[in-house]
Amino acid sequence: MPLVTTKAMFEKSMKEHYAIGAFNVNNMEIIQGIIDAAKEEKSPVILQASSGAIKYARVNYLMKMVEAAVEEAPEIQVALHLDHGPDFETCKMCIDAGFTSVMIDGSKYDFEENIAITKQVVDYAHAHGVVVEAELGKLAGIEDDVNVAQEDAMYTDPEQAKEFVERTGCDSLAIAIGTSHGAYKFKGEAKLRFDILAKIKELIPNTPIVLHGASTVIPELVQMCNQYGADIPGAKGVPDEMLHEASKNGVSKINVDTDLRLAMTAQIRKVFAEDPSTFDPRKYLQPAREEIKKTVGHKIKEVFGSSNRV
Ligand code: G3H
Ligand code: 13P
Ligand code: ZN
Repeated sequence: MPLVTTKAMFEKSMKEHYAIGAFNVNNMEIIQGIIDAAKEEKSPVILQASSGAIKYARVNYLMKMVEAAVEEAPEIQVALHLDHGPDFETCKMCIDAGFTSVMIDGSKYDFEENIAITKQVVDYAHAHGVVVEAELGKLAGIEDDVNVAQEDAMYTDPEQAKEFVERTGCDSLAIAIGTSHGAYKFKGEAKLRFDILAKIKELIPNTPIVLHGASTVIPELVQMCNQYGADIPGAKGVPDEMLHEASKNGVSKINVDTDLRLAMTAQIRKVFAEDPSTFDPRKYLQPAREEIKKTVGHKIKEVFGSSNRV
C-alpha cells in the first residue's frame, strides 16, 4: 500500500474512539523501530518530520527511507506528515516531495493571520490531494512561568476553534489543553483540561483533534538515562492514563517525540557505560532501535488503542 493521507484513518478513529500515534522521525533506526511496532500491532501509524528533521536528514533521504518502510509494511496504513510547518514554502516543499499531510503552525500569529496562512496552505494542499493540520492556542512549557490568567488565555477557545475550522477548511486541529513540548511539562501534578476538549468536540464533532506535547516522559527511560550518566532531573510528562482518556474522548492524533529520544538515548548510554570499548555503531543503534519499537508498541497497544485497526 502506498503512503496514505490521514483522512480515512481519522474517520475510523473518531467512529471507534481511539487515537493514532504520530511519531517524529529523524533517521533510519527510528523509522524502522516505529514501523516494526506498527506492523506487529496491525496499527495505522503517522510518521512525522519537523523542519529540523528535514534539515538534518535531508528531504530526499527521508522520503526514500519512508518509501522503503512502506514497501515492507503493505498491510498497514502509513501517512507521512510535516510536523510544525513554519511557513507556506516549507509546506509546499513537502507537498511537492510526496508528503501526504502537512501541519501549518500559525499558533504564533494572531487569529486572523493564523487563518490567512492556514487557508493559503489548505488551498495548495487540497489541490494536490494532501491534508492539513492547523493549530489554535499556545502550548506553554513550565519554563514559560505563566500565571493562571495568562494560562487560561493560552488554551484553545472552543468557539474560536469552530470559526477557525469553518473559515480555513483545515482537516484536523491541534489544540492547547495543558500539554507542552519536551521533558518538563508540569511543575506539580499533571493536569489536562478535558472540559475544554469536550466543548471543542461538541462544537466541531467531525474535526479530528490533535494533541501535541504528549510524551509520557517514561520514568523508567529517564531513570535509565540518568543511571548511565545523563543529567535529566525532574522530568515529567503526561501519564498514560490521561492519554488513554484523551484517546477515548475525541483526540485522534497523539504526537510523540521526547519519549523516542529518551528510548534511543537510554540504550545508547547503557551500551557505552557497560562496554566502553564499543565503537561499532551497530552495537548501540540496534538496541536503540529495539527500544524505539518497544516504546511505540506499548503506546499503540496499551495507551492509544489503535492495535488491529487496519
Ligand atoms: O514538536 C517538536 C518536535 O519534538 C520536533 O522537534 O524541531 O527539534 O525536530 P525538532
Ligand atoms: P513531545 O515533546 O511531548 O514528545 O511532543 C512532540 C510533539 O508534539 C511533536 O509535534
Ligand atoms: Zn508538536
